[in-house]
Formats: sequence, structure tokens, C-alpha cells
Amino acid sequence: MERITSIPSAERAMERLDLLARVGSDGQNGGITRPGLSVLEDEAHALVAAWCEEDGMAVSRDSAGNLYARPAGAPAAGEVWSGSHVDTVPSGGRFDGALGVVAAIEAVAAVADDAPGAPLAVVVFRDEEGWRFGEGCFGSRTVAGQVGPVGLARTDAAGVTIEAALAALGLPGPPVDVTLPAAYVEVHIEQGPALDTAGFALADVTAIAGMAGFNVTFRGASGHAGTVPMADRSDAFAACADLAVRLRERALEVPGAVATIGDVAIAQPAANVIPGVVRATVDVRAPSAAALDLLVAAVPAVAAEVATRNRCGVDAVRAWRSEPVSLSPRVRAAVRSAAGSAGVPVAEMASGAGHDAGILAAAGVDAGMLFVRSLNGGVSHRPDELSSEADIAAAIAVLTGTLRSLL
Ligand code: HGY
Ligand code: MN
Ligand code: MN
Repeated sequence: MERITSIPSAERAMERLDLLARVGSDGQNGGITRPGLSVLEDEAHALVAAWCEEDGMAVSRDSAGNLYARPAGAPAAGEVWSGSHVDTVPSGGRFDGALGVVAAIEAVAAVADDAPGAPLAVVVFRDEEGWRFGEGCFGSRTVAGQVGPVGLARTDAAGVTIEAALAALGLPGPPVDVTLPAAYVEVHIEQGPALDTAGFALADVTAIAGMAGFNVTFRGASGHAGTVPMADRSDAFAACADLAVRLRERALEVPGAVATIGDVAIAQPAANVIPGVVRATVDVRAPSAAALDLLVAAVPAVAAEVATRNRCGVDAVRAWRSEPVSLSPRVRAAVRSAAGSAGVPVAEMASGAGHDAGILAAAGVDAGMLFVRSLNGGVSHRPDELSSEADIAAAIAVLTGTLRSLL
């Protein structure tokens, strides 16, 4: 496989972000919907595979569908990986995940040109967003050996299991036969306003917040919207609304904590029927394990309180939890040194968003992240998330230097 000399190019990275954005494009508002373990995610993986092969890399995928592109060809001990994910949230933006992948292709190809045979890989993890099946970082969790039969039985809104979704893509699923790398570096859009406010293009990420997800079901009594007196109602949606208001109050009491109810479904919805059953997801996050513990304890307690107030029953089941994790001092030092050599000032900040880097770090891999400034007020998980080509060029230069120094 003949290698094409490659000079890192932010321009080519931007073009590739455009091409990826067309896969799962909503058409109307420029949003992108590429669910994890879907045909659309597969299409995006195929695009990435073709680009890596153009650069002379050998492309493979493991039994969970994670993609690996190696300039040296075969897996080696002590590898240095760089990458991210290409699935998106519903109507998401073009940078979340994809930016880390196109940046990794540029940097890995450039480093490999100067160091033929170096143990490098571009990696693309499956289903990082997790909204389809209820838990994020599926691909990196399979690499970390954390996905077993129970995990594969999770279903999406249509009742499709992860196992069936994998099979539909021709994938046998975990366990995956992969050796963890010596180091992993992930470039990612910041997804917040901090860097733009502080006037930095890049950040060395110190840690990733802890988080937990719950599935809450309120069971009341459906009934006629016009004939049941308010005092006699067991309105399951009213209970859920109470939960949202009370959880917001509890999160505001815990420094750095956040709580989100992002997915709510009324069973047999109808404007003139009192909701009898309501299912909601709760996502809570905090910078420390102690703060996360407070929120994790609050969810079922507040759910029980508001259920009683609204004469409903309730189940509040914790579906997953990932601990806050510090990123690797070794990789962070390499990032800062590469930024210094590139003459790019770099801030440092923690991440409120979850990332594959957090899973690898928790599995003992030296993992680090390089955030790229978000523009547009830092919006993300929206079509108008934005980073600039200039900042992406700086990120590719720093990533290239970081990978070189980690070999
Ligand atoms: O939810 C998150 O933090 C990430 O975007 N998956
Ligand atoms: Mn992401
Ligand atoms: Mn995301």
C-alpha cells in the first residue's frame, strides 16, 4: 500500500467535515442525525476508512465495529492512538466527534511520514453518544472490556437490541480482541463558551466529570381531561414536571453539578387524556465523586417525593454511572510541550462532557484531550456548533507534535 506524503492540512480536514456532515444530514436546519450502530454511522466509518487508505494506512475493525487505521500496517505493542467518534446526537453539529477523527488522520499520517513503522493508529469508536440505547461510549467500553451480555441486551425506542443492531451491520459484537494502547490523545470541540471567553484557541483537558443516568417511570391514572377534578388526579406528567423543577433546585445546590431530563415519553399521548404513564431519562453530572454521590442519591429520593405529592407510583432505576477521571499527566505534559513548540498558548480546563478518552483513562491508558475553541457562544449538540479553521489548524499542529513526542 503505497504512502502518499502528507502535510497536515486543516483545509482538508474542513472539507472532510463537510463530506461527513452530508451523512445523516437533516436537510432543513443543517442538523446531522447519525445514531450509534446505525447504517449512517457505518457510512461515516466507510468514509473515514477510505481517507485513511488514501494515506496508505491499513484499516481494520474489531468485532464491535470500532475502526483502526495503522500506517505501519499491523497492530504493535505500545501503540499511540488518536481519534474520537462519528455518531451524533439527533440534529447534532458537524464537529462533535468528527473533528477529532479528521484531525487524527492528518496528524497520524504526518508523524508516520517521518517515522515509518511507528506504532500509531487512528481510532474511531462506535456509539459514543449513547442516546439510542441508553448508555454512551459503547465502542470504547468494549475496548475496555466493560460490555457483556446484559449490556448487549439494551434496546432502543423500537425495541432493537444492541446485539441485533450489531448483527444488522455484520458485527458479532464484543468481546473485542484488542490490546489497549500506551497512550491515547483525543481532539474534541470544547462544547462550551469558556475558551472563547478566555481568549484561547486550545485547552489541555485536566479531567472528565463523573456522570450517571437514570430511567424514571411515573405511574398515575389516565382519565378524561375534562371531567376529573384537579384534586383527584394522579397525573404522571405533573409528577415528572415536579421532578424536573426539584432536580434543578438540587443541582443548583451542588457546585459544578448539572441535571438534565432530556427524553420524556407519555404513554398513549392525547391532548384530552390525563397522562397515566410517563417515562423520563435523568442525566446527572458533577466534577467530583462526592458531588456525584449527592446527585445520585437525590434522583430516587426526589422522584419518590414528587410521586407521592402527585398520587403516583414511581420506579427510578440507575442505568449507568461513570466516575470522574483525571487525564494522564504524561499526555498532558506532551500536549503543553507541543503547544509551546507550536507557539500556541493553551488553557487548561475540565470537561463536563463525557468522552471516549475518559473510558480509556479509567481503564488505565495514558489518555489526554485537546479542546478546540467553540464559537457561537459555545453551543453544541446543535446544528450551529462551530470551530474555526484557524483553531483547527492549531489543534492539528499541536496534536502532531504531541503524538510525535509520545512515541
Ligand atoms: O453526553 C456527553 O457528554 C457526550 O456528548 N456523549
Ligand atoms: Mn463527542
Ligand atoms: Mn456529544
